Amino acid sequence: MKKSKIFIATLFIIILAGCAKENSHKTVLLKYDKQIDGIIEQLTLEEKVEMLHGKTMFTSAGIERLGISDIKYADGPFGIREELQPNSWAPLGLENDKATFFPTGSALAATWSPDLAYAYGTGMAREGRLRGKDMLLGPAINIQRIPTGGRTYEYLSEDPYLSSRLSLGYTKGVQDNGMAVCLKHFALNNQENNRGTVNVIVGERAMREIYLPPFKAAVVEGDAFGVMAAYNKVDGWWCSESDLLQNKILRDEWGFAGMIVSDWGGTHSTVNAVTNGLNVEMPGKRFMGDALLDSVKAGAVAEEIINQRVREILRVRFAIKPIPDEEANNEITSQPAQQKIAYDVACKSIVLLENNGILPLDLNKNKVIAVIGANATQIMATGGMGAGVKTLYEITPLEGLKNRIGDKAEIVYAQGYIPEVFRWGRRTPEQMEKEEKEKELKKQELTKEALQVASKADIVLFMGGNNRAVETEGSDRRSIMLPSGQDELIQKIAEVNPNIVTVLTSGAPNDLNVVKPLSRALLISWFNGTEGGNALADVLVGNISPSGRLPFTFPIKLEDSPAYAMGNYPQGRRRADVFANLVAETDSIGKSEDTKDETKYNDPNTAYYSEESLVGYRWFDTKNLTVMYPFGYGLTYTTFEYSDLKTDREKYGKNSVIKVSFELKNTGAFATDEVVQAYVHRVDPVVEWPEKELKAFSRETLNPGESKSITLEIPVKNLQYWNETTHSWADDLCEIELQVGASAEEIILKKKVTLK
Ligand code: BGC
Repeated sequence: MKKSKIFIATLFIIILAGCAKENSHKTVLLKYDKQIDGIIEQLTLEEKVEMLHGKTMFTSAGIERLGISDIKYADGPFGIREELQPNSWAPLGLENDKATFFPTGSALAATWSPDLAYAYGTGMAREGRLRGKDMLLGPAINIQRIPTGGRTYEYLSEDPYLSSRLSLGYTKGVQDNGMAVCLKHFALNNQENNRGTVNVIVGERAMREIYLPPFKAAVVEGDAFGVMAAYNKVDGWWCSESDLLQNKILRDEWGFAGMIVSDWGGTHSTVNAVTNGLNVEMPGKRFMGDALLDSVKAGAVAEEIINQRVREILRVRFAIKPIPDEEANNEITSQPAQQKIAYDVACKSIVLLENNGILPLDLNKNKVIAVIGANATQIMATGGMGAGVKTLYEITPLEGLKNRIGDKAEIVYAQGYIPEVFRWGRRTPEQMEKEEKEKELKKQELTKEALQVASKADIVLFMGGNNRAVETEGSDRRSIMLPSGQDELIQKIAEVNPNIVTVLTSGAPNDLNVVKPLSRALLISWFNGTEGGNALADVLVGNISPSGRLPFTFPIKLEDSPAYAMGNYPQGRRRADVFANLVAETDSIGKSEDTKDETKYNDPNTAYYSEESLVGYRWFDTKNLTVMYPFGYGLTYTTFEYSDLKTDREKYGKNSVIKVSFELKNTGAFATDEVVQAYVHRVDPVVEWPEKELKAFSRETLNPGESKSITLEIPVKNLQYWNETTHSWADDLCEIELQVGASAEEIILKKKVTLK
């Protein structure tokens, strides 16, 4: 070869390598490829196809004659699901499969702690391995686009940066402990209504900047081994057969070398699915069984594609050590080490929204404590449709209070309201009418009892919020109103005893217009796992100071939130979900009169994301809308002082890292954590931006009187935008303002620097 040709060829290789390096990552999965090639050569087409679909409800086949084990999946994301019958959703009825119930996604996110997310992943994997599982169906990391989303409690945050750091921590925790993750649901599965039919129309920029980052972080930085293709369509393509999502973005751009599993029942074709990147149809083999075999034989699918899909599965199989059946399930799944992780997460997740000096509870003054509300005794590990944990135990709020208060005060409980229950199937109008009548009588009785209890107590702990029947897979909430007449009840209680502390056990935002002014303190304590009640009681009595921060905005009213305000949601309702049509009646839970059904876009099968990147606080900030509680918000029992903001330079190049430093002082009497947050506001940008965006945060522990110098780092690369013309990331080098504070609303320190 001539010198000039060699030079051009070398240059080309360098450029290619450069491109790959920018977006891709080093994966441990490729190291098995040689060995895998040797295996693929020995396989018949039938054996290969056998691996590309479900064998049982939660396994896919290996190759027995070569000693390659099946892949065993464990449903997550907040506890290892109980063992089911091989081919149905019915439980197997084991005793040993009782697992730890970890706080659900929004609770984990409220800790704002990648370290706790790592510990959480560790705990999930340890329990999964005790059960002999290879791949965890989690973490669930879709962005919370609508406050009513049925799975908001499973997901992490409305913000892509917070979600990314936590999805990364969770992923590493799982995979460092010998299990593979399956990131779900890829991608843009942001609503439950019509999830099985809806086509998401989203701009490239919003997709790249808001919806994909949690997946990208877990793949590129965390080397995630598995991804679950979502039920919905994106730009006309089912996710499980989207060349753009699966082949181009996930594999080519991000360097994903692992396997893609369809969501259960989310495969829709044979040729497109396998060609465009899907490895395993779950469960069953409608499309990727005989139909696939025939397609290969007929020449519609090249055998090389089958080999590639098998290779991707085998990489994961080789990276995860199989556990022989006789070694699994020998011990009870839930172990003390994991219960401790669940407790630690719960403690740091609880968000104090209001405190008019009433908390922590003074047990010398409050000798009679009325605990009112069904959520005081409600189990949150199961209920509703989808993810649930057969937990070894779950400390309810009432039990937690009894554990922590003992005989220091008298606790009197009243149920107060009738909790929503989740039902499979429909009732006849006659049955419904009869039940309504009975309910009305029961309600009157419960109200009377609650008022009696409240009037005799020194303080009322009102335990309300949603439950797992209200927040459920398969359907979104119709409104964010507190269910079961809680607003009405609390108004009555306030008339007999105004000393009310309200605790919301919810995984998603509620409308707090009635409750807030009637509560002297207000907290959200989530669906908080096995140890949730103990953690809550520790916060209430002051054993620990609350330190959780909201991972999403509480709007004043639902209609203020972006997709609602734009008329993009709800779309008309279509009952074609794989499961939700079985549970039609539950979607009337929490129905509010003012929720409009008629929208600008009434096509039930299309979700327009025309609010673009203005999701969550990005919308409220940019549109100057007042909210009930902002993103990142949460009080403690102490106070903090921020001062002395400095940056290491005044000007930064596109490859540099901005170092923002400041002093933080605990000026109160409690040791606790502060979650410091750094947002970036663009002063004179070239393209449009939200008002500000979270770009760094840190959870810091400080004793009373202690000061700390904090430095947060923001790589300028993380400030890029997605250019929809060039279809690539681009710099917007402009003046920016660094805003440091305690929530999206409470910016305490500011400084301008220039990107050049
Ligand atoms: C859910 C997934 C879950 C799967 C298996 C689906 O309905 O969307 O998140 O992992 O079922 O239970």
